[in-house]
Amino acid sequence: MKKHLSRVLPLYVLLLLFTIFATSDATIRRRDYTVPTVYPELLKPLTPITTKDPQDIYINLVLSYTDLAPDGYTRKVWTANGQYPGPLIHCNRGDRLIINVTNNFEDPTTIHWHGIFQLGSNWYDGVGGQTQCAIPPGVSFIYNYTVGDQVGTYWWHSHYLAQYVDGIRGPLIINNPDDPYLGQYDYEYVLTLEDWYHAESHNLVAMRMTQGYEAFNPIPDSGLISGRGQYDCSRARNGTKCDPNNMPAIYTVTKGKKYRFRIINMSAEAFYFFSIDQHKLKVIEVDGVDIKAIELDVLPIHIGQRFSVIVEASQDSGNYWIRANIPIDCLMFGKYTINNNSAIFNNNNITGILQYDDASNDTLPKSVDWNRNLLPCHDLDINLIKPYVDVSPPLKVTDQINITVDIGEPDEKGTAKAYINGQSWVPDLKNPSIMKIMDQNISAKEFPLNANAYMYDNEGGAVEIVMYNTNQADHPFHLHGHNFFIIGMGRDGIPDSSKYNLKDPPMRDTVTLPPNGWVVIRYMINNPGVWAFHCHIEWHVEMGMVFQLIEMQSKLQTLKMPPSVKALCQPGSQHTKRLAIPFPDDGETTVTPGGYVIPKSGPTKRLAIPSPDDGATTVTPGGYVIPKSGSTKRSAIPSPDDGETTVTPGGYVIPKSGQKEGFTKRLAIPSPDDDNVTTVTPGGYVIPKPKEGSTKVKRTTERNIKYTTKRNAWKW
Ligand code: C2O
Ligand code: CU
Repeated sequence: MKKHLSRVLPLYVLLLLFTIFATSDATIRRRDYTVPTVYPELLKPLTPITTKDPQDIYINLVLSYTDLAPDGYTRKVWTANGQYPGPLIHCNRGDRLIINVTNNFEDPTTIHWHGIFQLGSNWYDGVGGQTQCAIPPGVSFIYNYTVGDQVGTYWWHSHYLAQYVDGIRGPLIINNPDDPYLGQYDYEYVLTLEDWYHAESHNLVAMRMTQGYEAFNPIPDSGLISGRGQYDCSRARNGTKCDPNNMPAIYTVTKGKKYRFRIINMSAEAFYFFSIDQHKLKVIEVDGVDIKAIELDVLPIHIGQRFSVIVEASQDSGNYWIRANIPIDCLMFGKYTINNNSAIFNNNNITGILQYDDASNDTLPKSVDWNRNLLPCHDLDINLIKPYVDVSPPLKVTDQINITVDIGEPDEKGTAKAYINGQSWVPDLKNPSIMKIMDQNISAKEFPLNANAYMYDNEGGAVEIVMYNTNQADHPFHLHGHNFFIIGMGRDGIPDSSKYNLKDPPMRDTVTLPPNGWVVIRYMINNPGVWAFHCHIEWHVEMGMVFQLIEMQSKLQTLKMPPSVKALCQPGSQHTKRLAIPFPDDGETTVTPGGYVIPKSGPTKRLAIPSPDDGATTVTPGGYVIPKSGSTKRSAIPSPDDGETTVTPGGYVIPKSGQKEGFTKRLAIPSPDDDNVTTVTPGGYVIPKPKEGSTKVKRTTERNIKYTTKRNAWKW
C-alpha cells in the first residue's frame, strides 16, 4: 500500500502543479527534512462496535503544541494527543464519556462537544463565558456526560476564542446499535473537511478586529480533507518548511462493497461542495438525525454540519477524485482582505482519492467532476430532507424570539462587529452565565445587554426563533443543547407563516441563514441550561455573532453543578489536597479509600484516573487500574497504549523518547506525590509547579499585533 502511494504522489503533485502553475516558473523544493504526519487512523475504517450495553469510556485529551504539516507547510498546530485532526471519539448510544482534558497550552481553553445535547449536564457543554470558566494552563479538567439516546455524527472542538481553527478539533461518532441502515453498508469511514491557515488564529483575529478594517474575513491558505492537503511551496516564506509532496487523503475501497462516509465540516470559514467522481452519494443522516435516503451527485455542507452518505464501490476498478470544492463565490474578499493573495484561489478544489484496492497503482484519477447546478453557500434544500422516523414539529409555540443578524458596522472605536438585534456579544469569561444563575442566583433578566441572553421557561412548551439576515453573507447558525425543526427558509422577503412546513420538516442543529434571507425554526423546551446559538464562521463569533438561550432557568437552579466545574471559577480559594484528579460529584462515581474514582454500578471494571501511590492498586497491561492483589505498586496514569509512556520520579507520565511519528506528550497527568514538582489547586487539580527561575512568557506582544499598513485605505 505504502509503496504504491509513493508512486502515485509525485504524479499527483505534478498534476496539481501542471493545472495550477502551467504559466509560472514554480520549482519544487526537495524534501530534506521530516515532519510528523497527521493522524493516519482517520483514513482507516471504523472498528465496529458490537456491544449493546452502555459503557463508561475513559479518554485522555492532552492538549499541547506540535509542529505538523497538514498541507505540507509546517506550523505550530494546537493539538490533542499530538495529533491533527484530534483523536476520533467513537462510542455507542447510551455510553458515558469521561474525558480528561489536560491543558498544556499557554492559554486557557474549553472543549465543546458539537451536537451533544448535554441533557441535565449543561456545565459540560464547554462554552467559555457561558457554561464554564476556562481550564487554566497546566490544569486538567474532566468532562463527564452521557450521550443519552443520541446517535450519529458529531465533533468536538475548543470553544474558547478561535482556538479550534489552530487544530483543536476532532470527530465524535456515536454508533447506533439499531441503525435502520445497518445492512446497507459494509464499512464506515470518517471524513473531515477543514480550511487551513498558516497564521495562528489569534493573529488573524487581531487583524480582523483592527480599527478601520472592514474588508471581510481572513482567507484560508488551503483546504484539507481529513487533515491532509496540498500547498504550493513556492509561496512559502524563506526559512519555513514546506513539503510539496504532501500526501492527500486516500480512502481505499473494495469493488462491490458499500461504505458509509461520515462527513464533517470543521472549518472556520469555508462552505464546500462535496462529491466523489462517478459515485453517487446516498445521504442517510443529517446532523445526527437519520433521514429517508436521498441520492445526490454533490453535497453542500457548511461549517458545523454533518452528513452520512453511503457510497457503493460500483464503478470500474480505478482511482477517483474525492472533491471538496470551496466555491470562491462564498469567500467574500476585497482588495484589502487579509490573505487575499492566498494560494487557495488557485486551488479551491480540495481533493482526496477514492482508490479501489485492486486499482492500477501508478495512475492518478482521470475521473471528471459532476455538474454542480446548486447554489453556492446554500444548504441542501430543506424540502429534500425527511427524518427517517416521522416526527412532527410543535404546532403551538409558547415562546417566540425574533433575531436580526447584522454584520460589519464598526463600533464606536471603529472596530468591525457583528450584531444580534443590535448587540454584539461579549463573553463574561470570569463569571459565566451558568455561574451567575446556579451559583449566585442572578436571573438572566439582570444580565448586561451585551450578554445577548434570551429566556424562556415554559417546560414542555416550544420555542420559535425567526432569524433575519440583513447582509450579503451566509451564516451557518448552530444551536447547542437541541436540534430543531426548520419550518421555513427564504432567500428574500419575510416569513409567511401560511407556508411553514409543519408536517415533515428537517431536523438538524446547524442551519445556514441565507444572504439577505430568513429562517424559522422550532424546538421543544425540555433541556434546562444556557445554550449558545451562533454563526459557526469563527471570525463572526469573534465579532460577536452569538446569543445565548436561557432555558428553564429556575429548573436549572435545582440541578447540582459538580464542584470541579465551580472550582474552575475560584482561583486562589482555600487549598485542599483532595483527589488528585477531581471527578464530579454527580452521583455516578465513588471514591475508593485509596482515592480512586470509579463508576458506581457494578464491580470495578475500568479505572479511569488513578490517584497516586497508596499501595493499593495494580495497572493491567491494557492500562487499567485495578485494586491490588499483590503486584506492581504504583503506576500513575493508565494509558490505553502502554509501552509508550514513562513515569518520571515526580509522577508525571511522559511519552517515551523516540516513539512513533505524530505522537508527542501524550499523557501529562501529574501525580501529586511529589511536593517539589506538583501543586494541588483549590479545585483539586494537580498542576506542575513552575520550575525555579522560570517565568511564564506572556505573549502580549504577539497578541497585540497591529496591522498597520494602509490602514486608511481599508474602507472599500
Ligand atoms: Cu461547534 Cu458553539 O459550536
Ligand atoms: Cu456568520
